[in-house]
Amino acid sequence: MRIQVELTDALQDYIADVSPNEPDVLRELRKRTDELPLRLMQISPEQGQFLNVLVRALGVRRAIEVGVFTGYSLISTALALPEGGTIVGCDDNPEWTSIAMEFCERAGVTDKVDMRVGDAVATLTELVASGSAETYDFVFIDADKQNYETYFELALTLLRTGGLIVVDNVLWHGAVIDDSAQDEETTALRAFNLRFTDDKRLDLSLLPFADGLTFAVKR
Ligand SMILES: C[S@@+](CC[C@H](N)C(=O)[O-])C[C@H]1O[C@@H](n2cnc3c(N)ncnc32)[C@H](O)[C@@H]1O
Repeated sequence: MRIQVELTDALQDYIADVSPNEPDVLRELRKRTDELPLRLMQISPEQGQFLNVLVRALGVRRAIEVGVFTGYSLISTALALPEGGTIVGCDDNPEWTSIAMEFCERAGVTDKVDMRVGDAVATLTELVASGSAETYDFVFIDADKQNYETYFELALTLLRTGGLIVVDNVLWHGAVIDDSAQDEETTALRAFNLRFTDDKRLDLSLLPFADGLTFAVKR
């Protein structure tokens, strides 16, 4: 039997209680995002805090985010970047990215953010074509699941050796082990989860945190 704590609502509330206070700007962003029909796409405050700690611990200077929405994870990451650090934000929705930029301004991180509004496959391909291969430290992937394999391959090209990719939603609310779930997103995530298991270009770990996070370090 494996030891795994059951994450009840009460335990999640407890984790929130003992976690650091959410920065005011991110609390306001969550409030603003709550007005949107697709608000559940936003990562949790604990996940944002985790990204922040990870980026600081790794000393990330050059980051990419695929899937910005209204900017919660982007700003969590940008706040952790050192002076001169940068993050390229990729999202194809101008309405959501304009909210993200408004809150980047409020968070004082606008000078660190290079927002690219458009299809993320095209944006990452352009970064490779412009000579940025092997120059990034960190990539966070949290966009359309059908493109996860493509994003991951492009991210691997853009990362330096020792750089880290974090992929969100890999357990997809548990649907990945539900045979009756045959929709495009679930099927794509199942394929993605198997695709890189024995890939000699990277070291990989899947954590049951939030909706499932895969970590991959480029060898
Ligand atoms: C789950 S949300 C991202 C949540 C975000 N990380 C946060 O912390 O709030 C996914 C985002 O991916 C974007 N997206 C989906 N398909 C895309 C594509 N082909 N190119 C660029 N962005 C895309 C959507 O517009 C949406 O904002």
